[in-house]
Amino acid sequence: MSIGKFYITTPIYYVNDRPHIGHAYTTILADVLARYHRLLGDRVFFLTGTDEHGQKVQRAAEKAGISPKKHADETVVRFLELWEKLGITNDSFIRTTDGFHKDIVSSVLNDLLEKGDIYKASYDGWYCVTCERFFADKDVVDEKCPEEGCGRKVERLTETNYFFRLSNYQDWLIEYINANPKFIQPDFRRNETLGFLRNKLNDLCISRPKSRLAWGIDLPFDSDFVTYVWFDALLNYVSAIGYKTDDAGFNSWWPASYHLIGKDILTTHTVYWPAMLKAMGLPMPETVFAHGWWLIDKCKMSKSVGNVVNPIEMADKYGVDEFRYYLMAEMTLGQDANFSEDSFVRRYNDILANDLGNFISRTLKFVEGNFAGKIPVPGEYTDTDNVLRATASETIGKVEKYITEMRLDLALGSVAALMRDANRYFDHEQPWTLAKTGQTERLQTVIYTSCEVLRVTAGLLYPVMPVKMDELALMLGVSGGAPDINGLRAWGGLEPGIAIGGSKILFPRLKNEQVPTVAPKKEEEREDLIDYSDFAKVRLLTAKVLSAESVANTDKLLKLSIEVGDEVRQLVAGVAKSYEPEQLIGKTIVIVSNLKPAKIRGIVSEGMLLAASDGDSLRLLTVDGDVPSGSSVQ
Ligand code: MSP
Repeated sequence: MSIGKFYITTPIYYVNDRPHIGHAYTTILADVLARYHRLLGDRVFFLTGTDEHGQKVQRAAEKAGISPKKHADETVVRFLELWEKLGITNDSFIRTTDGFHKDIVSSVLNDLLEKGDIYKASYDGWYCVTCERFFADKDVVDEKCPEEGCGRKVERLTETNYFFRLSNYQDWLIEYINANPKFIQPDFRRNETLGFLRNKLNDLCISRPKSRLAWGIDLPFDSDFVTYVWFDALLNYVSAIGYKTDDAGFNSWWPASYHLIGKDILTTHTVYWPAMLKAMGLPMPETVFAHGWWLIDKCKMSKSVGNVVNPIEMADKYGVDEFRYYLMAEMTLGQDANFSEDSFVRRYNDILANDLGNFISRTLKFVEGNFAGKIPVPGEYTDTDNVLRATASETIGKVEKYITEMRLDLALGSVAALMRDANRYFDHEQPWTLAKTGQTERLQTVIYTSCEVLRVTAGLLYPVMPVKMDELALMLGVSGGAPDINGLRAWGGLEPGIAIGGSKILFPRLKNEQVPTVAPKKEEEREDLIDYSDFAKVRLLTAKVLSAESVANTDKLLKLSIEVGDEVRQLVAGVAKSYEPEQLIGKTIVIVSNLKPAKIRGIVSEGMLLAASDGDSLRLLTVDGDVPSGSSVQ
């Protein structure tokens, strides 16, 4: 088990930006990792903040007719409020305009000047205002910024500036990267940086003349200049934890375990930053991890296209925890991922409403209905109980392993798989039959086992959905709050006899309003063809047959009791000539769930099952594999 320290950072965001899903993603990811490491018993420090100097802020402030600091004070609130809304548990929030940070930047500049790593020279080259970076002639084609995702027009500039001897560190850096494969992750990003380092590095221009940019930290040795925004910004990772001001604190956190970044800021973090740290005599961060970008309906997000996703709107529409879950489960770390509300609704319904939600409600329904709302005392465990217990315990191990490998998608996938196994266990053990046939002790064991699996699940998903999993813990009758891994590992955390907090639906199914557009009818179209919208009116769902019995005075009809997600319904079906009632119990069938109820021989039928007919013989439509009842059939 991992017990150590875990220091994680996000990029510090440009303060004048409106936070979008990309910002929200990195910060939620850092939060989820921080919470998982707390669960594993690590000592955690989680840092985020805002990048407040530079041309963009200066220009935005000029436009607004206020000072850059006032502008930053006004816009930083958007980030602070968003992190609060999204449940972010950062230990510190750094602003590069904080006094202590500015002092440390000055002090580092003095150190490096003294060491001979900073010199003054005249520069002639291309400059991108947006990226706030200089580029050599060889890197610029058609006067466009070569930064990934930028491509804006660059300006020609000739001016005297201060330079950091980046080139002195090139050979060392290549060697370091090769010797430390974990330093840049994923592997293909390491290769990208090594590719970049195949060309000779220029020294890094680290100043801007005040005549061109006043909004920055003064160079302590030349007040006509301010420092380059990236030099200032990167130092936040050490200034925030006490570099030069609190040695004990600093040494207890540095080096960082992870700098999380987006792929567009790889060079600054894997070339400039390590060279700066080496010059300062500090050890390297353990890992710089570059994640991919969120694309919107497969396109790049951009203000001009108007497809920028506002995380507040998403959280308001679907819920904070549901949004956090989707972002974490949908992106394979390192790759780009596609964001769409359709895929959100699909993932939510499949995993949260079906696998998890269904298991919660069917389990708690038995605690309420059969044990007066109290956790039952388990009897002797059978092989099937033990298999599920073992799966729950293996899932804890898998989550721990995947988290340390940065495979969050797989960690969440393994918890979803546990829920599917638990639902299968429930189907197999048929607690409704145990109740009906008076096998009380066996029923107690099955329901206790199910409750314990839910307790483990609530703990494993807590870092991603803290509010919902707190609610689940309370529903199980235990106090919520951050779980610890030893508590999850110890089977029997739920005390038999304690009252549960009641059952409610945590993840109601969502309807997807986005129906694909239908092509207009052509005249030559066949009369019998229907529009998609006609088909979409028929809601087909899977259902599980709980019980079946013959209907008096007919040899055709059976009366079925079926489970459809959280509901139990009654259905009358004309399949008696093809099936004995017992043959149907436990089968997963397909029903039309939104048919108006009808009375057949005086018995109400809520829906219709589907079957293939060959003359008098009927064969039921069923599904290939295990799916929970209430799953949609499309
Ligand atoms: N201020 C610098 C970082 C300095 S760190 C010492 C900066 N800020 S930013 O606000 O422009 O970007 C912050 C992060 O947002 C970057 O990691 C960037 O990759 C990320 N994203 C911007 N758009 C994104 C997506 N569409 N998807 C995912 N992340 C994206 O750069």
